[in-house]
Amino acid sequence: MDRELFRWFLTAGRAASGAGNIAELGAYMGQSAVLLGDHLEDGEELTVIDLFEAQADDAGNLEENAVSYPGLSRQGFEANYTRIHAHLPRVVQDFSERIVDHVAEGSVRFVHIDASHLYDQVVGDIKAAKTLLSEAGVVAFDDYRATHTPGVAAAVWEAVASDGLHPIVLSSKKLYATWGDPAPYVRAIPRQTSRWTSEIQSVAGADLLVLSPAHHETYRWIRYLPPATVPHAKRARARLASWTKR
Ligand SMILES: C[S@@+](CC[C@H](N)C(=O)[O-])C[C@H]1O[C@@H](n2cnc3c(N)ncnc32)[C@H](O)[C@@H]1O
Repeated sequence: MDRELFRWFLTAGRAASGAGNIAELGAYMGQSAVLLGDHLEDGEELTVIDLFEAQADDAGNLEENAVSYPGLSRQGFEANYTRIHAHLPRVVQDFSERIVDHVAEGSVRFVHIDASHLYDQVVGDIKAAKTLLSEAGVVAFDDYRATHTPGVAAAVWEAVASDGLHPIVLSSKKLYATWGDPAPYVRAIPRQTSRWTSEIQSVAGADLLVLSPAHHETYRWIRYLPPATVPHAKRARARLASWTKR
């Protein structure tokens, strides 16, 4: 779902956001950066910022990185990225909120916030994103509702409640928002695709789109089965689907 949403915001969604740079806070080994790099138009630049092997400056962030990202290296990121793209993006090894020292204010059309998932750091990243984004630019937040990342949820909804951030669309993993007008995006995002179904909800006086994975539709019949039989039924259905394809 999020691969499709990234693609949509970076292609069709460019009609609403306008031209501009792309930025990523938290690159890890390059999975999302590679996708962002697919959608640069002439004159646009992708900048990623990550601590890579450098140490965080507070105990919580240090522990988060040691536990979550063993084996991370800038060299690993660069090797992965250049397996797919001919040229590296601008790679900055620094604290994520310092992105503002490397990318021009108001020059960014899409920023992905996926660095530290702790409250104080995300608050700093939101402030940086607001500085970088063009008027109708879009910010995507990772893990805005996971049980192990309450700091992201708190920081994001705080910005919605008191800093003029407008959510556009919610997937199960990421929230997409803008400090501009969300309506052109909400109107234009496809309501139903092979990946998702959707509903409109109103939050803080504005409409937003809530997506559910389309396989919920495919597996609608599951609710009528005793829970213990569900894995067997799913396997049988998958086998049947692959025979039918052949
Ligand atoms: C969840 S991973 C990023 C995943 C990546 N966006 C992807 O989808 O493949 C988080 C990254 O943030 C980095 N990070 C954590 N705290 C940071 C901070 N304070 N400043 C910059 N980078 C940080 C970690 O080194 C790690 O590479």
